[in-house]
Amino acid sequence: MKVAFAKSDLPKSGTVAVAVSDGRKLGPSAEALDRRAKGAIARAIAASRFKGGSDDLLTLLTPSGIELDRLVLYGVGKPAKLDPLALQSIGGRIAATLGGSGAETASVMVDALDGAKMSASKMAVEIGYGALLRSYRFDKYRTKEKPEAKPTLKKLALLTDGAAQAGKAFERREAVAAGVFFTRDLVSEPANVIYPESLAREAKKLTAQGVRVEVLGEKEMAKLGMGSLLGVGQGSERESQLAVMVWNGAGDMKKHPPLAFVGKGVTFDTGGISIKPAAGMEDMKWDMAGAGAVIGAMKALALRKARANVVGIVGLVENMPSGTAQRPGDVVKSMSGQTIEVINTDAEGRLVLADALWYCQDRFKPTAMIDLATLTGAIMISLGTEQAGLFSNNEDLAAALQKAGAAVGEKLWRMPLGEAYDKMINSDIADMKNVGGRWGGSITAAQFLQRFVNGLPWAHLDIAGMAWSDKDAPTVPKGATAFGVRLLDRLVADGYEKG
Ligand code: BES
Ligand code: MN
Ligand code: ZN
Repeated sequence: MKVAFAKSDLPKSGTVAVAVSDGRKLGPSAEALDRRAKGAIARAIAASRFKGGSDDLLTLLTPSGIELDRLVLYGVGKPAKLDPLALQSIGGRIAATLGGSGAETASVMVDALDGAKMSASKMAVEIGYGALLRSYRFDKYRTKEKPEAKPTLKKLALLTDGAAQAGKAFERREAVAAGVFFTRDLVSEPANVIYPESLAREAKKLTAQGVRVEVLGEKEMAKLGMGSLLGVGQGSERESQLAVMVWNGAGDMKKHPPLAFVGKGVTFDTGGISIKPAAGMEDMKWDMAGAGAVIGAMKALALRKARANVVGIVGLVENMPSGTAQRPGDVVKSMSGQTIEVINTDAEGRLVLADALWYCQDRFKPTAMIDLATLTGAIMISLGTEQAGLFSNNEDLAAALQKAGAAVGEKLWRMPLGEAYDKMINSDIADMKNVGGRWGGSITAAQFLQRFVNGLPWAHLDIAGMAWSDKDAPTVPKGATAFGVRLLDRLVADGYEKG
């Protein structure tokens, strides 16, 4: 779906959406139409349960007295309460309603509203952004879907004062949306299509946007001593990979060290020899969602030419059981030199990140390092599917992440770290073991990661509950959410860009 901005002349035909606020108060465009329709719109509203709340929508077909095919009344609630996230949700609901309505084009009138703190053109940008984010669909494998079951809407025009300004401001949103869509595509793809080498190839495509991309194979990683990552992939026919993406938007990397993102990219997690039960195992195709988010965020930053130095590193492996697979009890040596007793081969994400994190700080000396991983089922027990877990050794970084998350609607809940938890992963035979026992599973996983952080500011986002959604949300259709892309983009925009 294409989003466009144009000046705010009320269309005479086709599909049009207009705002109605709390208490059924018609916005300026709705009022103008109602006058033309001799009060038929107000009467239709009065006959319905539509109250003008910010999640209310009412569709009127061929309303009497005017020539429109379809009039959508979108509720905005109390105009004073409208903020970017609320407007994005409104846009998302409009897109969902119109998407399958039969219309191929539609116009949304965005008027200045009494009491609203935002100008019409700023509101239009947010509504358009929400609509665009919601319009995503992954349907490439549905070969038999009937045309009438497919979404029809190709173009959504936002009609507003200051349309040129809005169009300019929207370019940045389109960049972020392109990053989000790239991530959603990668995460949605099944594991026979996306495996370490093919995912590395996808990352390589960012060279078209000016990102420097290097890919290390097993030989290079073995030379670097990455026994922890390599142990996870050793049962798979697919070769493990480490993809390194560098966005150099702020000059000399020695003078301006980068911010670093590190992603867990387990392209399929069977559990390995500690094999998972069959029910639901198909979900483990999205065990690379952390890597997917890092790749999508790098794309967004490059497309909008962020004035920051940012490195993205993704550890890509497939966790399979086989004759060559790692066994429970095996001891591996990580690039850091620390040894790990692998108690459970299903606690593999931390083994991948251990070497990816170490490599990242060893090579790039970043100012801060943030990892994203679908790391533990335990975080879903703690936080459900509403917030990701945030673990950090640094108050400022944690606060900046929470602020960025709140601003884009990707919430983070701070979880604890501490010595008592750290002790739980001591091993009798090696420097540590990869699981800490039954309780506090997300925390001991984070403690494990922290043992591979060499003093610098670091944060770990456990996104296991957030990477995939079983139900539509206003700006996120069900399926792969791309959680983290908007958040990382916002973090960079708010705190890591030059002037
Ligand atoms: N990829 C899983 C975590 C996960 C579970 C993500 C469900 C998304 C949905 C991870 O590799 C894993 O298997 N973790 C184990 C750790 C345990 C063996 C200590 C878990 O959470 O059960
Ligand atoms: Mn696992
Ligand atoms: Zn996993």
